[in-house]
Amino acid sequence: MIKLQPEKFELETTTVWSFPERGKWATHQPNFRGNWAPQIPRNLILRYSKPKDLVLDQMCGCGTTLIECKLTGRNAIGLDINPKMVEMTKNNVKFDIDEDIPKTEILVEVGDARNLKDVKDNSVDLIATHPPYVDIIKYSDGKIERDLSNIHNIDKFCEEMEKVASECFRVLKPKKYCGILIGDTRRKTYFTPIAYRIMQKFIEVGFKLKEDIIKQQWNCETTPYWTEKLKEYNFLLIMHEHLFVFEK
Ligand SMILES: C[S@@+](CC[C@H](N)C(=O)[O-])C[C@H]1O[C@@H](n2cnc3c(N)ncnc32)[C@H](O)[C@@H]1O
Repeated sequence: MIKLQPEKFELETTTVWSFPERGKWATHQPNFRGNWAPQIPRNLILRYSKPKDLVLDQMCGCGTTLIECKLTGRNAIGLDINPKMVEMTKNNVKFDIDEDIPKTEILVEVGDARNLKDVKDNSVDLIATHPPYVDIIKYSDGKIERDLSNIHNIDKFCEEMEKVASECFRVLKPKKYCGILIGDTRRKTYFTPIAYRIMQKFIEVGFKLKEDIIKQQWNCETTPYWTEKLKEYNFLLIMHEHLFVFEK
């Protein structure tokens, strides 16, 4: 019998979040590389939406956000450019929930976050999403052309993310929120911002910045490699990401 709900969960109250233990309840996949800890969408969902609301994750990966929607009684749309991710998400949202949680609809299909053609204007109550961080993790090994994790050039990545931002603004209802987690990188040993550039794109399409939350990173797979490099070139390990919350 799987444990459906977290044993200990408290809503975050500050702008620094840290989850040394990645949530393992329900069908979450703690070992999947590149997903976000379920505590992140759970915090966004509980703080910025109510039961029966419609939540969108248009880069849903293996479905962490969608699982949390089902567990908290929110309707949800999950899209991903990668059919394998869509299959994984569909499997991960297949479980029975307790009777006291409102029954909801969870729709999962292949789609491009830059063109949410089947999502109506002003129809979504909350967006909670987590794009690739350029090509730091490649989700389709270069095999899916429209996969944003194939893009190495940061200017090009930001241009494509501007299309994602515009679509977020179009589909979200006024006064509602969009949470997006994004990290930075290092190029030729120099700290190379991605997060603040993406933040700027969201502001340019019309959003107001409600929160800039620093999320501490744990269990980075690249750590042993970088530990060597940082000694050699004298730089610091990047151990944080930004969770921006925008208001339409
Ligand atoms: C960081 S992962 C998301 C992980 C997710 N939060 C989870 O917990 O499983 C980024 C996802 O974006 C997807 N993706 C890349 N380009 C996309 C695009 N143009 N439209 C939709 N999804 C895309 C990738 O396939 C990958 O699954």
